[in-house]
Amino acid sequence: MRDHSEETLTQAVLDRVQHAADPRTRDMLQAFVRHMHAFVREVRPTEAEWKQAIDFLTRTGQMCDDRRQEFILLSDTLGVSMLVDTINHARGGGTTETTVLGPFYVDHAPMVELGADISGGLKGDPLFVEGIVRSENGTALSNAVVDVWQSDDEGHYDLQFNDPNLFFLRGRLQTDEEGRFRFWSIMPRSYPIPTDGPVGALLAAAGRHPFRPAHLHFMIAAPGHNKLITHIFVKGDDYLDSDVVFGVKDSLIADFETRTKTTSLNGAHIDRPHRYLRYDFSLQKGPGASAA
Ligand code: BEZ
Ligand code: FE
Repeated sequence: MRDHSEETLTQAVLDRVQHAADPRTRDMLQAFVRHMHAFVREVRPTEAEWKQAIDFLTRTGQMCDDRRQEFILLSDTLGVSMLVDTINHARGGGTTETTVLGPFYVDHAPMVELGADISGGLKGDPLFVEGIVRSENGTALSNAVVDVWQSDDEGHYDLQFNDPNLFFLRGRLQTDEEGRFRFWSIMPRSYPIPTDGPVGALLAAAGRHPFRPAHLHFMIAAPGHNKLITHIFVKGDDYLDSDVVFGVKDSLIADFETRTKTTSLNGAHIDRPHRYLRYDFSLQKGPGASAA
């Protein structure tokens, strides 16, 4: 086939990929081509605009390395990450709801003792967090791994500093025989996602703010269960209704109470001013990842 017109070109490309060995790959490629061609037909870009789009994607890729993931930011800010989340995690089953992973997870946070302080002495309002990890049928899950990470008091994650040895506000805890976990930290703050790259420029061009409401990140793994990736958001935060990555769900908003005394789930007494979060997690049964 030669001499393609605007009308025949799309079908020609679809035909060209129809023999892909893997049917899923073929279906995805064909859907991508159909939607991409429809997009181009709709917006009718000039050649200069198309070059600008390619330059944008090139800069997005060039910005990525071990500590910066501009493509995740792009997916997050365009709502694609939450669309993938929504498609893959049905709501309403009674298990803890999921939200975006984000670009600041690292898979080798140190294992810390229950009750440890993960703040590394950073300034901020002291926060005590505890809860119970259960299976969807209510059974407490011992030896589940609770991986937590968060920003500092000024809204920065350790990965955002230009220091490969810097490591703070992260930790992995193992639940005890009653499924309990607890740790000390500092209050998370609402923060702007990184705006010094192409995604920041795109937000500015769209007249959007770059803020996320304050939250703690959790990734929880237990044998025989699907890995849970979620956040707990701070009730009352100004950005709950306009999260730049569309990640807020009502069930994930919690009261981080202001207290002077707490008796922890394990009976220990805390006798100094602190913020307190109790949040219990419910994991869906499934093949999931092991807790290792
Ligand atoms: C985060 O919460 O760490 C995050 C999520 C999406 C984009 C940027 C940051
Ligand atoms: Fe975050």
